[in-house]
Amino acid sequence: MNRVLITGATGFVGRTLTAHIRRRFPGADVLALGSQTVDLVNRSATFDWFDRLHWAWECDHIFHLAALYKAGDWPVHHPATQFHVNMSINVNILEAWARFFPKAKFTSVLSYCMYPSHPEPHPETELYGTEPEDYLFAYAMTKKALLIGQRAYRQEYGLTCTSVILPTVYGPHDSFAENSHVMGALIGKFVRAARSGQEAVEVWGDGQQEREFLFVEDAADGIVTAALKSQTDVLNLGTGQAYTIRHIAETIQGAADFGGRIQYNPQRFVGVQKRMLDVTRARQELQWQAPTAIADGIAQTVAWYRATLAADA
Ligand SMILES: NC(=O)c1ccc[n+]([C@@H]2O[C@H](COP(=O)([O-])OP(=O)(O)OC[C@H]3O[C@@H](n4cnc5c(N)ncnc54)[C@H](OP(=O)(O)O)[C@@H]3O)[C@@H](O)[C@H]2O)c1
Repeated sequence: MNRVLITGATGFVGRTLTAHIRRRFPGADVLALGSQTVDLVNRSATFDWFDRLHWAWECDHIFHLAALYKAGDWPVHHPATQFHVNMSINVNILEAWARFFPKAKFTSVLSYCMYPSHPEPHPETELYGTEPEDYLFAYAMTKKALLIGQRAYRQEYGLTCTSVILPTVYGPHDSFAENSHVMGALIGKFVRAARSGQEAVEVWGDGQQEREFLFVEDAADGIVTAALKSQTDVLNLGTGQAYTIRHIAETIQGAADFGGRIQYNPQRFVGVQKRMLDVTRARQELQWQAPTAIADGIAQTVAWYRATLAADA
């Protein structure tokens, strides 16, 4: 990997991926893009920016992470915004890749909300002929459209690409606000509650929902491994293991040294009952497995968030 362009590099996963690539390939020239560098929704601004760049720069790898997504019930109220922004970003970046850097391998990052709502592990073969659940429908369909777009550019122009589908990612630099995805939200609540001596922490739902989680450093390692080795359109990249929210909450409670009660609130919005990936294909094709155990990842994240709060105080 010599000349690497990363969209979404200012975001949670993107900044870890950027640091990982800089560490793993110290000689690489890495261009880390956020929306301040170029607004990928704006078609002419995107093409102008890529046009200027390509005269002076070659590129061997593009990592495409830029997207508009927010956790909780935000997607329920903003499906049109998500559709417009993400379709525009994806359509523009695909065309910019083909026009300006057609020799680069294009690796995109997708989400396991693309799969239909059922509790069994999702293999990649389930991507077509099924529909994502209703509350994430528009967002999930823009991810499917990206996958279809990559395949189309590969078929018509002979470009090289792959995609990875991630479960919920967690780790340092995540969002720890209450309306974040469940892992970030709970780490935030427990760490703040332990600091302030609160009596109870509210956990949304009854604790029985199950989710798969991937530590952000493992996500970065897996994304780069896929970019280097994957010969296929799409691979599930996760741990292949789901945990109940109760297990996650209790693990965080221990890591955060929170001595109070956990209070479950079944009235709050929690999404599907269970979601997890079938990671057989990635294991076979990449010989890759996520190295970080969930308890270690949670402990590292809690320590990071605690240190960040202490530094800000
Ligand atoms: N986090 C997860 O649990 C998870 C799970 C599965 C898949 N993914 C996928 O991983 C990718 C990154 O997720 P994340 O959690 O790191 O998201 P994030 O923290 O919200 O970061 C989003 C990134 O996209 C950029 N972006 C947004 N709108 C843009 C625009 N109009 N033009 C250019 N850049 C724009 C943002 O730039 P600025 O910050 O500079 O505005 C930021 O760098 C996404 O594609 C997401 O679907 C994430």
